[in-house]
Amino acid sequence: MTHWGIIGLGSIAHHFVKDLALVPEAKLYGVASRSLEKANTFASEYLADKAFGSYEELLKDPLVSVVYIATPHSSHKEWAIKAMKTGKHVLCEKPLGLDSGEVVEMIAQAKVSGVFLMEALWTRFNPSMEAVVNRIKTNDIGAIQYLQADFGFYAMDRDPKSRVLDPALGGGSLLDIGIYPIFLSYLLLGKPKSIMATSSFNETGTELQTAIIFNYKKAKAVLYSGFTSKSSMVAQISGSEGLITIDSRWHESQGFKLEKENGTEIESVSLPTLGRGYTYEINAVHEALSQDWIEHPKWTHQDSLNLSELLDAVQAAAKNQ
Ligand SMILES: NC(=O)c1ccc[n+]([C@@H]2O[C@H](COP(=O)([O-])OP(=O)(O)OC[C@H]3O[C@@H](n4cnc5c(N)ncnc54)[C@H](OP(=O)(O)O)[C@@H]3O)[C@@H](O)[C@H]2O)c1
Repeated sequence: MTHWGIIGLGSIAHHFVKDLALVPEAKLYGVASRSLEKANTFASEYLADKAFGSYEELLKDPLVSVVYIATPHSSHKEWAIKAMKTGKHVLCEKPLGLDSGEVVEMIAQAKVSGVFLMEALWTRFNPSMEAVVNRIKTNDIGAIQYLQADFGFYAMDRDPKSRVLDPALGGGSLLDIGIYPIFLSYLLLGKPKSIMATSSFNETGTELQTAIIFNYKKAKAVLYSGFTSKSSMVAQISGSEGLITIDSRWHESQGFKLEKENGTEIESVSLPTLGRGYTYEINAVHEALSQDWIEHPKWTHQDSLNLSELLDAVQAAAKNQ
């Protein structure tokens, strides 16, 4: 059994532990909050062995093997590095760091401590995503010419001090949800030759909308994230011999459609996830620990670094607009 500890008991922590309970090799051992009362309530709801009123106390417990960091982006680096320094393996929510400089420091610590570190980019392990990657590898749609992916929801009614909108907590659509369309383009096409981007901001400086074009030698990717309205969240990957449409919401998809260029064949593939879909990244962590890996081959340290460099480059391109 792998003993998990959870740091930061907010919205995603609730979803994550429900999926953790579906993985037989996982044990929800400890949960840590800045408030002991909150930790106790969470521990009794999800049957955790231990509740801690500070993150430090959880890190001091020798029975915690892997820590899931579910705090706002602005403290991922701090808690991931503290956890790794105490010898814990880490699954850290996305984005791994606020920028590529932070990601470099985090990866360096994983190497020094000899522990596993992975960004919780669960979409990489989603069964539909895995199948789409395989279909592209086996040339089912030919060479990709055009990719479109978006992620938008209405967040303007949120508290300006919430992590989504507060710049001090790393707020803004790009790091929170724009990371997914960028991830998809990076996963399937790699790093682009050039980037065009434009953003809009509110009066506190929080980025609210970003439209992006990734320019590849033989393909274009049109990407979008925003908090000002909902978007369809259907992703399209269009190749010279066919089109894949990943069902909404594509980042947690339960299936996709494949249409051949000549119109002869439309295939609908259904791949329902176990739980909400975090079970697959949890299994990936277990696989890595069983092999003594410090990174997972499907979402490596270099992948996280490349992704954060792309986020930096998009922000720089939008600034120059
Ligand atoms: N993979 C996914 O599907 C997914 C979905 C949503 C979010 N996320 C990621 O998960 C992370 C957390 O998101 P969330 O939506 O769960 O946020 P949230 O509901 O605001 O919860 C964040 C938790 O972090 C802790 N925290 C520590 N320092 C804080 C501070 N200065 N201000 C506020 N909270 C602080 C708090 O827990 P305590 O009070 O218990 O200490 C809080 O409940 C983000 O990095 C986000 O990108 C991932």
